[in-house]
Amino acid sequence: MISKLTIQNILDAVRIEEVIGDFVSLKKRGSNMIGLCPFHNEKTPSFTVSPSRGIYKCFGCGKAGNAVNFIMEHEHYSYPEALRCLAKRFNVEIEEEEYNPDEQQAISNRESMFKLNSFATEYFADQLYNTERGKAIGLTYFVDKRGYSDDIIKLFQLGYSNDEYDAFYRASINSGFKKEFLIKTGLVIEKENKKYDLFRDRVIFPIHNIAGRIVGFGGRILTNDKSKPKYVNSPESEIYNKSDILYGIYFAKSSIISHDNCYLVEGYTDVLSLVQAGIKNVVASSGTSLTTGQIKLIRRYTPNITILYDGDAAGIKASFRGIDMILSEGMNVKIVLFPEGDDPDSFAHHHSPAEVQEYITKQATDFITFKTNLLLAETAKDPVKKATLVKEIINTISLIPDAIIRSFYIRECSNLMNISEPSLINELNKQLRFKNKQKNSQSSYTIEEQTNISEYQPVTDYFDSLAQEKEIIRLLLNYGNKEIKFIVREKNDNSIIEHFVEVLITVAEFIITELERDEITFTNATCKKVYDEYTFLFKKGKLPESIYFLSHQEPDISEMATSILISPYDLANWGGKPKIYVPPEDYDLKKTVETSILAFKAKRIEKKIYENKKQIEMAQSAGDEEKLIQLLKQKKILDDIKKLINADKLGRVVIH
Ligand code: GTP
Ligand code: MN
Repeated sequence: MISKLTIQNILDAVRIEEVIGDFVSLKKRGSNMIGLCPFHNEKTPSFTVSPSRGIYKCFGCGKAGNAVNFIMEHEHYSYPEALRCLAKRFNVEIEEEEYNPDEQQAISNRESMFKLNSFATEYFADQLYNTERGKAIGLTYFVDKRGYSDDIIKLFQLGYSNDEYDAFYRASINSGFKKEFLIKTGLVIEKENKKYDLFRDRVIFPIHNIAGRIVGFGGRILTNDKSKPKYVNSPESEIYNKSDILYGIYFAKSSIISHDNCYLVEGYTDVLSLVQAGIKNVVASSGTSLTTGQIKLIRRYTPNITILYDGDAAGIKASFRGIDMILSEGMNVKIVLFPEGDDPDSFAHHHSPAEVQEYITKQATDFITFKTNLLLAETAKDPVKKATLVKEIINTISLIPDAIIRSFYIRECSNLMNISEPSLINELNKQLRFKNKQKNSQSSYTIEEQTNISEYQPVTDYFDSLAQEKEIIRLLLNYGNKEIKFIVREKNDNSIIEHFVEVLITVAEFIITELERDEITFTNATCKKVYDEYTFLFKKGKLPESIYFLSHQEPDISEMATSILISPYDLANWGGKPKIYVPPEDYDLKKTVETSILAFKAKRIEKKIYENKKQIEMAQSAGDEEKLIQLLKQKKILDDIKKLINADKLGRVVIH
């Protein structure tokens, strides 16, 4: 773990213009640098870097952050990876936080297992190339039967394990490896005090993690012996979590990024044959059926997945499952089925690389068309079956988290099946509601009655208050220490003539008191972190400057701070000093702040009213009279508050 002190040293040492200058050609513009944005296509530069403040922002696509955010985004690095990369670049010594003895033990266990796997890989490769049996059986299989080139065999570090029952065991013990790790990696099995190699007389496919280290192996049988499994795989271990690993990811990742797409196949041999045919952005879920962890791994590099499966019944079933899982993760999915009985590997065998590439490009279908065409053929003209099919497809659409993308697919489904959009939306809402009940959560699938809301409204986001939350944060960070003036009637004033006094309150104090009084909390995790930290410091009498959040150690915070603090308006005004230019809204800051608090409260009250309405319905159908009266009283209060908010009176509005 990198220590906090080191992180600060790195942040202090980096020169953002140099970091970004490695990837973007920057020109000086006043005290800033400007260039073409590396995150979206543009012809006129709107990507701006402020060396003095250590941040960047693109006014075209909105990407923003500090040097660490840039490296994470651009290089697809994790947070620690980005820090290490910057530390190296700016010669900052990394001080690792002390690990306790248990942690140290775990690290050294893992290291020993990696070392053993690396030894095993070399051992199996040596068997393949340098033993009689390896050459005669293993290499012949790869070259003649599978048609792999020497380059592919070497790149993927393929190997062979001979047919003696403990040859690997003896070789590794002789090389000084401890029995403990032979067992832990699963390479050796101990039975009644005897040791057996896991892989005997099999060709070996080492499995690399994203960093290229070997976490396990797959071994394929070379005979047609049906009594033995075709493949044997390493068991899960401290270094091999099957649901988080994809075969081929290490070799595919840069190609996935540059193609902005990832091909997903079933087996080791499919990966190798496609890579040999020039398709490098390919990975397999070998050894397990596709998992969410594997999909998330792909998402680090691209939001687009194309499934390439066998066209048989099992392949279709697997692809349906894959579609639903990928959509649930908010990613895009296309499907290519191979002619029945062919998998990508066998197809690549009797077609040229150009034909394989052409087939994949031409056949790639979006999931709606794919499912509709397949199922429509089955249902023919039977209306009942067609209804089931519609439900099935809507079910898949309902898994997509983004409402706008959902509405796009609803339209496509409507065109394909010749059913009106409103009836499809109706069915969609029904299913969302059902999911909502199942999940028993108020947040993620909140539905509004269709009649109350336009058809293409993202229904799930109706009560979302992210925009309002960001606005509050923006005001705090920009103007927290500015004073606004209130005119209030003097207390204990018994005279007949009313006396008024001017009171000055800082924006921070005003916002914090207002929100605390009504117990309003933030729903967005990053906004909440910023707000809580801000409040904490405020209460200690240390009002943080905006630069504090711009260069915050937590990457989501620095990113959000940059994106909400820097408006196009500021662009011309980014000066040398770390101070935000004050835009004209400052002239009526009080009004701006009051309106923003109102807007935030209004969002909340809408939600309360909706929840209250649902509870009333429930109490009514349950015949719970007492509860009903209580809820109706609450309704009256909520309605009154709403009226007050609408009348623009912040006053003494209490929401909870
Ligand atoms: P052929 O297509 O018959 O040439 O064999 P293949 O080596 O290409 O394997 P196949 O297409 O039958 O299977 C595709 C993938 O499914 C493999 O890469 C394995 O990951 C997995 N698989 C197949 N058979 C087994 C098995 O017996 N056990 C396990 N664990 N996985 C298997
Ligand atoms: Mn196959």
